Amino acid sequence: MSNSRDSLFELDIALPDARLDAIATDLVGFDRRFERVGRSLQALLDPDSVGAWAKRFHEADAPVIRLMADRYPLVVLAGDVGTGKTAFAECAADRLVRLTRREGQLMKLSTRVRGTGHVGQMSHLINEAFTVVEQQAGKRRLAFLVIDEADSLGASRDAIHHHHEDKVAVNTLIQKIDDTRRLGGRVLVFLATNRAAALDPALLRRAGIQERFDRPDEEQRLALLRHDTQGFEIDGAVLDEVVDLTGPERNEGLGFTFSDLRTRLIPEALLRAFPDRPMTGDDLLAIATCMRPSPALIDAVQA
Ligand SMILES: Nc1ncnc2c1ncn2[C@@H]1O[C@H](COP(=O)(O)OP(=O)(O)OP(=O)(O)O)[C@@H](O)[C@H]1O
Ligand SMILES: [Mg+2]
Repeated sequence: MSNSRDSLFELDIALPDARLDAIATDLVGFDRRFERVGRSLQALLDPDSVGAWAKRFHEADAPVIRLMADRYPLVVLAGDVGTGKTAFAECAADRLVRLTRREGQLMKLSTRVRGTGHVGQMSHLINEAFTVVEQQAGKRRLAFLVIDEADSLGASRDAIHHHHEDKVAVNTLIQKIDDTRRLGGRVLVFLATNRAAALDPALLRRAGIQERFDRPDEEQRLALLRHDTQGFEIDGAVLDEVVDLTGPERNEGLGFTFSDLRTRLIPEALLRAFPDRPMTGDDLLAIATCMRPSPALIDAVQA
C-alpha cells in the first residue's frame, strides 16, 4: 500500500517562496523571535559549522561540541490557538533557506495521516512521509517537515484511553526523528502543538529547540492593529481603545489571539462598511465591543 505524495502532505512547496517571505513581514514580532532562535536553528541545520567555530576559537573536540552535535533536528512550537505557531514554522523555514543561501522544500504533514485507524496504518504513513522528506534533502538542499497539531499524533504513550495504534505511531515518529539526526542537519522537523504537556516526553526530550507562543500583549495588539489598518486613517485613540477592549482585563482574563484580531475583528469591521462607505474607528469599536476571544486550548502546565 503506497500513498501518493499529494495525500501525505497538505503543503509541499519549494523554498525560497515569495509568498512566505511576504507573510513574515506582516507577522508582529517575527523578526525578533527569529533573531533569538535563528542562530540555534542554523546550528541545528549545520552542525559542522559549530565544530569549525570551536576549532577556530577553542578545541574542536571539546565535550560541549559533541553535545551540540547530538542535538536532534526537532523544534517544538507550543502555545495557545491562533498565536502564530504554524506561521512561524513556515516563515522560519523560508528565512533559513534564504540565510544559508540554499534551496529547500517545505512539507506539511496532512492531518489525514492519522489514517482510518487500521493497525499499523498510521505508522506506515509516517514512514512514507519521512521517506519523501529525506529524499528531498540534499547537500545544498534543506527539507523541512511541519507536523501541525502534533498532540494528535505524538500524544504521550502513557495517556489513558490511548489506543495501541497511536502508541505504535508515536514510536515510529520518535524513531524517524532519531534517524533524521544522521542526515547532518539537512532535515528539520517542526512540531506544533496546543498542548505540549500532552506530547510524549520522549519527543519533548528530543527537542533541540522549544519555543513558547502566547496571546499578544498590549504592545503587540497595537502593532497588529496599526499595521492592518494602515491607509485607513483610524485615529490613534481609537486603536488604543481597541487594544484595551481586546485585552485580558476586559475579557475574563483571556485576551484576543493574533488570529482573532487579524482574521475576525478587522475583516468584520471592514465588512460593516463595505461596499458603501469608508471604514471608520466606530466600525472597529463596534466589533471589538461585541466580539469574544477564542477560548483557550492550552494545558494548565503551560499556562
Ligand atoms: N505574530 C503574528 N502577527 C500577526 N498575525 C498573526 C501572528 N501570528 C498569527 N497571526 C495570525 O493568526 C493566524 C493564525 O496563525 P497560525 O495558524 O500560525 O496560529 P497557530 O498558533 O498555528 O494556531 P492553531 O493552534 O490554531 O493551529 C495567521 O494566519 C495570522 O493571520
Ligand atoms: Mg497551527
